[in-house]
Amino acid sequence: MSAKRILVTGGAGFIGSHVCPILLDHGHEVTVVDNLSIGSRERVPAGAELVVADVRDRDALLRVARERRIERICHLAARVSIRASTDGFHEDADVNILGTLSALEAAVRTGVEKFVFASSMAVYADSPTPEPVAEDYSTAAISPYGISKRTSELFIENILGRTGAERISLRFFNTYGPNQTYTPYVGVITIFVNKLLAGESPTIFGDGGQIRDFVSVYDIAAGVTAALENEGTSGVFNLGSGRPRSVNQVAELLQAKIAPTIPLAYAEARAGEIQNSVANISAARAALGFEPHGNLDDLVDEVIDAIRSSRAAGGA
Ligand code: UD1
Repeated sequence: MSAKRILVTGGAGFIGSHVCPILLDHGHEVTVVDNLSIGSRERVPAGAELVVADVRDRDALLRVARERRIERICHLAARVSIRASTDGFHEDADVNILGTLSALEAAVRTGVEKFVFASSMAVYADSPTPEPVAEDYSTAAISPYGISKRTSELFIENILGRTGAERISLRFFNTYGPNQTYTPYVGVITIFVNKLLAGESPTIFGDGGQIRDFVSVYDIAAGVTAALENEGTSGVFNLGSGRPRSVNQVAELLQAKIAPTIPLAYAEARAGEIQNSVANISAARAALGFEPHGNLDDLVDEVIDAIRSSRAAGGA
């Protein structure tokens, strides 16, 4: 495809830091808007421009879209914690819904041709079994975060459905890989690796039997790029590995690799979390050529090494 001028909101974050280098590599012009609340300047690759602004800042987004003559928007900026959203529902909705509306407004007012949105598996209702769910599964989300992502999907479809701009919402399943910022709210693999490397017990919420679909950030970045470069497709697509893993299995894998003598700890299950979450990825395969390659057992070694080096350098 021809080179495009692409705006990536949240481009200094975990997923953005993997998407932007691919876009640059493919010859696109990349402008990142990020408030650096979780993301960091060092994660924005040389060659991409960084504008430090909050995604809720409507004027800033509009100005960037106008001045850079943006053609496609990749909207990744968000508060990303399901668990933190149960208490922080106001902030979650503020950033996630109003942030999406700012990006949408800039898209509409500058005639952007394509809008790609980072949605989540959290939009789905719980499933009684670990059978993979397709996009038409119930979206009776049980967390405020899931509601904010589903609401954003609906706004995108409503508003861009009317203007005719192409729009793709990608429902990411549990994404892991290097560059995820470590906080108590973010990413079970990042949390468990940090704890084990610090000589502490990882804490499993509930009985650890909850099932997740862990998908590599490299696969997610490839899926996002495919959606951004796609011509003619609009819709909602799951991006996952299609493979189920329990939290216990992940904890045991990391424990065995890092610190076999440190015991696992258990605490009460957290509100707002579903029991079973596995992606049916047939639609993304067919429409976007999405093909996950990441193998958790191998890729966690890379995550462990990256976190170990970062800790040795004084970071987290
Ligand atoms: C994650 C993302 C969310 C994204 C979704 C789908 C984060 C913070 N959230 O949600 O933005 O939309 O995937 O891509 O990355 N767990 C423990 N102990 C811990 C931490 C977690 O047992 O210390 C368990 C949780 O109960 C949960 C599972 O691990 O069942 C996964 O949690 P986590 O990796 O934090 O991600 P999600 O909340 O599923």
